[in-house]
Amino acid sequence: MFPRHLARYFATAALVLALVQVPLAQNSQPPQLGKSSIKEVVAAMTTEEKVKLLVGMGFNFNIPGLPSPPDEVQTPERVTGAAGRTHAISRLGIPSLTLSDGPAGVRISPTRGGDNTKTYYATGFPIATLLASSWDTDLVTRVGAAMGEEVRDYGIDVLLAPAMNIHRNPLGGRNFEYYSEDPLIAGKMAAAFVNGIQTKGVGTSIKHFAANNQEFNRMQSNTIVSERALREIYLRGFEIAIKESQPWTVMSSYNLINGTYTSQSRDLLTTILRNEWGFKGLVMTDWFGGNNAVEQMRAGNEVLMPGIADQYKAIINAVNDGTLSKQILDQNVERVLNVILQSPSFKKFNYSDKPDLTGHAQIGREAATEGMVLLQNNSAALPFSSPARVALFGNASYDLIAGGTGSGDVNKKYVVSLDQGLAGAGFTIDDSLTTEYAAFIKDQKAKRPKPAPFMMPAPIREMPLENDRVEKFATDTDIAVFTLGRNSGEFADRVVENDFTVSPTEFTLIKEISNAFHSKGKKVVVVLNVAGPVEVASWRSLVDAILLAWQPGQDGGNAIADVLSGKVNPSGKLPTTFPMRYDDVPSAKTFPGRELTGATPLINNPFGGKPAEVTYDEGIYVGYRYYNTFGVAPAYAFGYGLSYTTFSHGDVKLSAAKFADKVTVSTVVTNTGKVTGKEVVELYVSAPRKKLQKPTQELRAFGKTRLLKPGESETVKFTLSARDLASFDPTVSSWVVEAGNYTVSVGDSAAGPNSSVKMVVPRDLVVEKSQRLLSPAQEVKEIQPK
Ligand code: BGC
Repeated sequence: MFPRHLARYFATAALVLALVQVPLAQNSQPPQLGKSSIKEVVAAMTTEEKVKLLVGMGFNFNIPGLPSPPDEVQTPERVTGAAGRTHAISRLGIPSLTLSDGPAGVRISPTRGGDNTKTYYATGFPIATLLASSWDTDLVTRVGAAMGEEVRDYGIDVLLAPAMNIHRNPLGGRNFEYYSEDPLIAGKMAAAFVNGIQTKGVGTSIKHFAANNQEFNRMQSNTIVSERALREIYLRGFEIAIKESQPWTVMSSYNLINGTYTSQSRDLLTTILRNEWGFKGLVMTDWFGGNNAVEQMRAGNEVLMPGIADQYKAIINAVNDGTLSKQILDQNVERVLNVILQSPSFKKFNYSDKPDLTGHAQIGREAATEGMVLLQNNSAALPFSSPARVALFGNASYDLIAGGTGSGDVNKKYVVSLDQGLAGAGFTIDDSLTTEYAAFIKDQKAKRPKPAPFMMPAPIREMPLENDRVEKFATDTDIAVFTLGRNSGEFADRVVENDFTVSPTEFTLIKEISNAFHSKGKKVVVVLNVAGPVEVASWRSLVDAILLAWQPGQDGGNAIADVLSGKVNPSGKLPTTFPMRYDDVPSAKTFPGRELTGATPLINNPFGGKPAEVTYDEGIYVGYRYYNTFGVAPAYAFGYGLSYTTFSHGDVKLSAAKFADKVTVSTVVTNTGKVTGKEVVELYVSAPRKKLQKPTQELRAFGKTRLLKPGESETVKFTLSARDLASFDPTVSSWVVEAGNYTVSVGDSAAGPNSSVKMVVPRDLVVEKSQRLLSPAQEVKEIQPK
């Protein structure tokens, strides 16, 4: 039997426990992220805390007129110069995420308030267009991994990269941050880059989703585009990147598509991105993008960056008055928490602030050489014979443009110029030119007006040289190199005159150098240090060789010297066409759009611009899809690029001549020249035109050989699925492969001639079904081939 005094004791103890239970529960810790389930953490959050998580901490630059951040008192940044942060909710163990630009390297401030003892430089890698020109996804993964280490080592959670909009028009101001005019290249490159970065335990943000192909009035520009062009050209690359790399985040773009801000489009951000493609991460706005925070929440744009007070208030009010459902709010919060759970900040990663800048510089230099494109090499002018005396002309030779401006810029420790690179490679550079160019550049830079924050400084004019001096150099040196420089960046598109085209001074110089050196039997080389295509047709016959070096990153001078000297045999190919003249570009008439006079502004901030619209009336005929189909000869075709050796492409072999659901395509590439080299192999498919019009051919796969010695061969294989062959038929909202005769070609440029073989698709195949989404209010009148 239970003793009575003990029973009394237990009864008293139970009473005491019952009494203390309430205060105990009140004092117990609330659920903690990572320890409790996400649902429990969300359930413990107040509405204010939830909304804080979805609206960033604000912008750290004091620019008059910018809307105020959600917090009155700004918490000091952990990483100075990072682009943005999310709010921490310490009570629930939720840390703040730090987000930093950008595509060519980690963009942070190299110094931190008052502390002169430490620096925080990041590697300035080559621009995205150069990386794409390598056609080498393994290389891009390696660059991504190196950049990912810098993200991690500097205590950043998410890199705001890669940027992957299509090069719709060569004047696009941010094309240098983007890969290609072709969605397959853009998608594969972005996936490779994301896969490299994310192996380091940090996240990425593929941007700018979507159809954001010019800078003109970029925050209020409505892109009018057909469903088919959208699916096949402007969304396809994003689709590939999402499916093949699952980036932690996606950044919606500034523009509207067919009348709706992308950040406010549920069709785009939920139906297509999540439901159709299986995206699992979070979507953030571009900085200050869109104009309706509640719509953004409903669309599935979970995080508003950099975050402003009005957005915070609007969402709180909508939750309180029931116009924004608690279920949407909670779902968005859950998605953000899922990303936070993976982040270094959540894992309390003990970052070093000491990335391997030396090792990464080496990777950047190697990547730069792999992405340079040899456009012309008459009578084997290149590589130079060493040791040569080089007459080095052009401002950009001495003031190399490593990368573009704006958020795509990187605060790098140094830039190796071409004179330094050539000198380091053992060439003799004329000192008098070096001194003269340095003084001229310094003087011109001092005279130009200071640019507004984030804007590109005005370019300086090319230094003129007297003709008799040029002639003297032709006597005293062995070879002439002229570097043509072009820069661009956020907020502005390029222009035709003196940017796409060469200026009169540049033309005169090229001509005089050509006359002087050729009359002495010496060669002339032009290096293009550019952000995008330039006009070459008017001057290329005056020179022997043209090396497209793009903007090759901080070690650019060394990398160019590696290629000019033959230390590296160039293997890059164009990911974007060089047209003969600007007017040949299919979007020449519609780019960059027009301002809508009298329209009410959609956005009000200092960067807001004016309401505008742009109609993509070339439809799917972007880049080579246009030039080939409409019979317009480009200056240099998509996919083109020379080598110091030659290659032969053998016959194309198919695993079956009748397509069922897959086909394997193979070809043998042989190095038929005298130097070791790599070859890019491009697979194009021509599809029958039945119900749907089609471009003459489309790139459906690509690869690159290993380094092949003279005489060595490699078999290159590709597998094509029905999805790889499909076109989007808007009348049935589906990806379809039409029955009929197909031509599968393998070669080394879109211009051919390439080896090809026939394949039959016996019946129509419906590969994927979608629904009518994002359609324009009125049918877009698109150009059609005859
Ligand atoms: C750019 C984004 C960038 C963001 C943060 C915006 O102006 O469009 O690409 O990531 O700023 O710096």
